[in-house]
Amino acid sequence: MAEVLGLGITHYPLLAGADSHMANLLKFTLTDPDIPDEAKDPRNWSELAQREWGEDQGTAAAAGHRAQLLAGIAKCRAELDAFEPEVVIVWGDDQYENFREEVIPSFCVLAYEDTEIDPFAVLDIMKIPNAWGAPREGQTFTMRGAPEFAKALVTDVINDDVDCAYSYQPREHIHFPHAFANTQIFLDWDHIGKQFPYPIVPVAVNCYGEHVIARRGGLARFAEINKGERLDPPGPSPRRCFELGRAVGRSVRESGKRVALVASSSWSHAFLVDRLWHLRPDTEADQVLYDAMVAGDYEAWLEVTSRDIVEAGQHEMLNWYCLLGAMQELGMTLEWSDFVVTEVFNSNKTFAVFK
Ligand SMILES: [Fe+2]
Repeated sequence: MAEVLGLGITHYPLLAGADSHMANLLKFTLTDPDIPDEAKDPRNWSELAQREWGEDQGTAAAAGHRAQLLAGIAKCRAELDAFEPEVVIVWGDDQYENFREEVIPSFCVLAYEDTEIDPFAVLDIMKIPNAWGAPREGQTFTMRGAPEFAKALVTDVINDDVDCAYSYQPREHIHFPHAFANTQIFLDWDHIGKQFPYPIVPVAVNCYGEHVIARRGGLARFAEINKGERLDPPGPSPRRCFELGRAVGRSVRESGKRVALVASSSWSHAFLVDRLWHLRPDTEADQVLYDAMVAGDYEAWLEVTSRDIVEAGQHEMLNWYCLLGAMQELGMTLEWSDFVVTEVFNSNKTFAVFK
């Protein structure tokens, strides 16, 4: 009989960087000349934002934020080790990494063999030193794949009326998609990904939808936005992601294996909330969904539209829709969760354990 564990974590890239850079996304936003000065003035920010920003632009507060995130990650790793999965399915977003102008699949199962990954490739792009103080050279880790399991998963899901793409090879000459790489790195924090014992089947979800190519990974200046963006078609609807999750749940139930299902993403992202000048996440919208998740009220989640998701900067929460669909299908319940709210570290982060 199959056994399943459900987890939700973050893959926040700046967690892998030093404290002095944890608020870099906000620092970048503050250099946007088209954001009004009053909005950028910390004296007009919330009490939490002012406290986190402090006298050092978030460096001191970063240690506290990091401690909260590492506690949630450690909890999830402990649950994973107690469960000893044969395979871990991870839902994550592709931020203009594997999938670009050639094709944007709504869902794509990465049926890869074992893959060598550079843990610091994304930090290099942002020119940020790593949080471990590890030497830059010689860093790689292996993400073990499960290609046969992945192919069987795609087969089941397609036969279950949910169309799903698949891939046998990553795009060349780019870093491995950070949603998946960081999931392994963070779950294996003490070894920077090297001693993670479980194979991973990544399922890429087109979370960025109308912004996936238009904003190439998400960051945009208001000058570009105001002159009219060439938006892309939407990503899969929240309801469709939930349906994919249910189909994955049914496949896993029939697999006879011990499978961990992981949603990997932070919730509302400041840099995606145009209405709030990219200065803070839409915490109010996140709180509504967090409360509904704790109450097991999935109907509240299903009332949310694609437009609501985009306006709240909750693009990446589509990964969590997949997880919750599977949890509902399998009759699993939320056993533990934590909601980490921040104003200056770009996104709120949620951790969850379903059994
Ligand atoms: Fe992401």
